[in-house]
Amino acid sequence: MQETAPAQPTAPSWTARELAAPHTQADKPARVQSMFDAIAPSYDLNNRVHSLWRDQAWRRAAVRAAQVQAGQDVLDVACGTGDLTQALARRTQAKAVTGLDFTAGMLEVARVKQARDPDLARITYIQGDAMALPFADASFDALTIAFGIRNVQHPDRALAEFHRVLRPGGRLVILEFHRPRNPLVRWFNGVYAGHIMPRTATLLARDKSGAYRYLPKSVGSFMDAEQLRAEVARAGFADATVRPLTMGICWLHGAVKRA
Ligand SMILES: C[S@@+](CC[C@H](N)C(=O)[O-])C[C@H]1O[C@@H](n2cnc3c(N)ncnc32)[C@H](O)[C@@H]1O
Repeated sequence: MQETAPAQPTAPSWTARELAAPHTQADKPARVQSMFDAIAPSYDLNNRVHSLWRDQAWRRAAVRAAQVQAGQDVLDVACGTGDLTQALARRTQAKAVTGLDFTAGMLEVARVKQARDPDLARITYIQGDAMALPFADASFDALTIAFGIRNVQHPDRALAEFHRVLRPGGRLVILEFHRPRNPLVRWFNGVYAGHIMPRTATLLARDKSGAYRYLPKSVGSFMDAEQLRAEVARAGFADATVRPLTMGICWLHGAVKRA
């Protein structure tokens, strides 16, 4: 896979029509990559501001759910700029933490952050595809993916890969946005995420790729929390659970590979 960030796009990655069904676009992976390359430098700032500083708390909840024991191996898929990967390295006694993503620009930011902090030496960042993980069967004790499964072309293929690379008894943890169930929260979130955030986040990122118009559309047209839970179980995992965080704006899925 190419290891350098391509030039930033000057045209939107999506037309309004394509955004009505972003998950069915045949070239979704290339569009997703170019979008994340474009917004990588301001990605963390936008996350903090537009989650009203909740995003790191959601990642800490994911770390706790992963129940990583001393000496274990952990993989963070679709690691982006490495915020969850870093939390896994800082908050557990894992032997090794691997962060994998297919967007060079996001990994570049992750590596710059890693270089600033000697406590993060246990992290290895790798460029790769969630649907074809470059690891042997049963390589990891825990696998996390935060706000990534929605962006993958075929979530079922990625889940099959997660099951393959986990050791028996290994834990899968997924953080994802789904539409809130409470009608009032859903209405409020629809206005905020659908109309306010796309404008302010685009300004902050000086983005031309349309990434922040894609975000609410990709959530609205993705599986809901229960559908994704069922998909996880279908991939062969046991004890698939899901619970809401912050009034059901963000959701935490957990499951175990049968021993
Ligand atoms: C919203 S970001 C999430 C980043 C990070 N996990 C976080 O918590 O902020 C989604 C990431 O998924 C990555 N991604 C999407 N599809 C992928 C795939 N098939 N394989 C690897 N990474 C993928 C993108 O490159 C992007 O960095």
